[in-house]
Amino acid sequence: METINAALIEAFGEAPRYRTLAAPQAGGHHELVDVLAVGLHPVTRSIASGQHYASPGALPFVPGMDGVVRRPDGSLAYVGGPGSATLAERTLIDPDDAVPLPADIDPAVAAATMNPAMSSWIALHARVPFAPGQDVLVLGSTGTAGSMAVKVARHLGAGRVVAAGRSRERLEQNLADGADDIVVLSPNTDATAAALAETAANVDVALDYLWGKPAELAVRAIVTARTDHARLLDWVHIGAAAGSTATIDGAALRSNALRISGSGFGSIDMRRANLPGLAAAIASGAVAIRPRIASLRDITAAWGHRDEPGERTVIQP
Ligand SMILES: NC(=O)c1ccc[n+]([C@@H]2O[C@H](COP(=O)([O-])OP(=O)(O)OC[C@H]3O[C@@H](n4cnc5c(N)ncnc54)[C@H](OP(=O)(O)O)[C@@H]3O)[C@@H](O)[C@H]2O)c1
Repeated sequence: METINAALIEAFGEAPRYRTLAAPQAGGHHELVDVLAVGLHPVTRSIASGQHYASPGALPFVPGMDGVVRRPDGSLAYVGGPGSATLAERTLIDPDDAVPLPADIDPAVAAATMNPAMSSWIALHARVPFAPGQDVLVLGSTGTAGSMAVKVARHLGAGRVVAAGRSRERLEQNLADGADDIVVLSPNTDATAAALAETAANVDVALDYLWGKPAELAVRAIVTARTDHARLLDWVHIGAAAGSTATIDGAALRSNALRISGSGFGSIDMRRANLPGLAAAIASGAVAIRPRIASLRDITAAWGHRDEPGERTVIQP
């Protein structure tokens, strides 16, 4: 029997173990590919924990919700989505869902960056009619996905990029990454509202990684300060780092061209997402996260590691 080495989740809530399993068999529409690099993203751990809506119902299973693979024709591809099993030497993919990668891309950098950069990339391609020159607020710019959103907005030709978050040190990094202005989200809500009104009153798009109280405050401050209330403000809820609910006054919607939407699994038309464009941006170095390499053999220890800001653990089989 042909075998592969893989990570295996044997109990929900526990780290995966390094195991030898029967090799998957190509067949039907599915293709057997070599796995080159797999990022350990928060959503990867969340799905593996059994708590995510995309978690498998039965144990054991091979985790890994995305990765960089080499296809039988030698080309590189990014694959993923719920139901993937990429934390293995080889895995089965649906070729229709494979995103072609440039031959010269660093697989580890691509595996580290595609997932955290995708949230803003997809939102600006497939959830709002973003056009170069428009102004973008990133609410929650100090997290991994939020800081990537600053780089992505800059790369896609945003007019002004305003970065808002709690950590002044990380906001300084946002400036280095291309933000034009920063807003410190401080416990002083009046000062925060005034700063948002001053710097972000007329943005066209808000990429919101926080939701909760910061979103309530930011929506109120910005719609109150808008100079043209009929100018479209697309508010895209991407993450809920500060709370899963937010209360928006109906008057804000009636008296402003405020449009609230969300972006994530389920709301995206992937045909409009232009992921090969993101791969090209990563290959060019315009958008990248530093990979912290670990071997598949060390998966249990790597699973427990908490990445520093700006880095992502990447497993290489
Ligand atoms: N929909 C999608 O496609 C998608 C994709 C990626 C991520 N997400 C979601 O987006 C959110 C952020 O992801 P991430 O990767 O950037 O997470 P992360 O790296 O863990 O960072 C979380 C950020 O949220 C900030 N934060 C938490 N509570 C806050 C509050 N009350 N006020 C201000 N800032 C607060 C943290 O600031 P401090 O450092 O000051 O604590 C940190 O900067 C998560 O909810 C994640 O699940 C969604």
